[in-house]
Amino acid sequence: MKKVLSTIIAVAVATVVSYGQSTLGPGVMGTSLTVAGLPHNFSTAAWNPYNYTTTLGQQICQPCHTPHNAQIGLEAPLWNHQMSTASYTLYESIKDNTTMGVTAIDGSSALCLSCHDGTVALSAFGGQTATNYLTGGANFGNDLSNDHPISINYASALAGGYGGLRQTTYLYSTWDTTLNAGAGGYTATTRAVSTMLDANGKVQCTSCHGAHSNSRGYQLRMSNRGSALCLACHSK
Ligand code: HEC
Ligand code: HEC
Ligand code: HEC
Ligand code: HEC
Repeated sequence: MKKVLSTIIAVAVATVVSYGQSTLGPGVMGTSLTVAGLPHNFSTAAWNPYNYTTTLGQQICQPCHTPHNAQIGLEAPLWNHQMSTASYTLYESIKDNTTMGVTAIDGSSALCLSCHDGTVALSAFGGQTATNYLTGGANFGNDLSNDHPISINYASALAGGYGGLRQTTYLYSTWDTTLNAGAGGYTATTRAVSTMLDANGKVQCTSCHGAHSNSRGYQLRMSNRGSALCLACHSK
């Protein structure tokens, strides 16, 4: 029975993957939202009313963006997903949050949490109501006290001397697989810590993750091999 079950699972996984590969086609956000970007490619998700089963379906962007009647004034353009009204328990930094410039969850983090706090249904976009919520480890709930600080002002933390933070002009190293004939190596780049902060100088979900790309796993904006992502901001 166990063997039969695992065979079924293997077939199911293979089917999903090959379906994505053969039908998504080229040209959508480069390669970022194709198979490598599966976690945020909802074109085959059962909860997505615009999935592959409908005529206008197999849409990737709809759960998050829409060409018309969008919510504006948010961190992302033409936003479609219903926002969360949850009140969050914030990470309490070494120093009090007021000094660190943390008042509320804002910026791109608020957009991410519109699905990842588990209080708004995944298909609650374009005016739809539903009860399909994100579950498992990707659902952080509204208690963010055990998650890395977000919506925190980097300069305030730096000025306070907390976390061994680097200057915003520091050029961090990245792991580059094109070096050493594919084996990879660390290289200093021209990217400064400031490029990881949002327009208000804050650390957000998007400091570490991209909304669209999953080429490095966990949708990280750079490889965390050797903890390079952490060491970009923290001098440890
Ligand atoms: C899971 C939600 C999600 C999906 C799906 C998604 N986006 Fe986005 N998008 C975002 C978020 C969040 C931002 C803001 C990112 C930031 O501030 O760094 C954004 C930003 C953008 C931007 C402006 C900034 C930029 O990166 O250029 C464009 C253009 C965009 N998205 C287009 C698209 C298109 C086209 C699709 C479908 C192929 C898509 N997005 C799918 C969440 C999503
Ligand atoms: C429309 C809802 C929605 C929005 C908005 C959204 N996500 Fe997700 N995200 C999901 C779902 C669904 C999954 C898959 C969860 C799973 O497989 O358990 C996911 C998975 C992920 C993963 C896990 C990838 C992996 O490899 O396991 C990361 C990281 C992530 N999202 C980050 C973000 C960030 C950062 C934002 C904001 C820029 C965001 N998400 C916005 C729905 C969303
Ligand atoms: C300081 C960097 C950083 C910030 C900020 C950050 N993450 Fe992550 N996140 C990571 C890393 C690194 C991983 C990979 C897993 C690990 O190392 O434990 C991860 C993993 C995840 C996962 C997968 C968790 C799982 O167990 O399946 C999700 C979903 C996710 N992040 C979403 C978010 C969202 C949403 C935000 C903002 C509310 C956010 N992250 C803020 C660094 C960060
Ligand atoms: C974009 C810059 C940035 C990145 C990348 C980053 N951090 Fe941070 N981190 C901060 C800031 C700002 C603080 C708040 C300073 C503080 O509270 O000490 C912080 C706080 C922390 C703290 C808590 C210190 C405290 O005061 O309680 C730890 C631990 C930490 N980070 C670990 C990590 C790890 C592990 C990674 C990699 C997954 C990471 N950070 C990536 C900016 C960053």
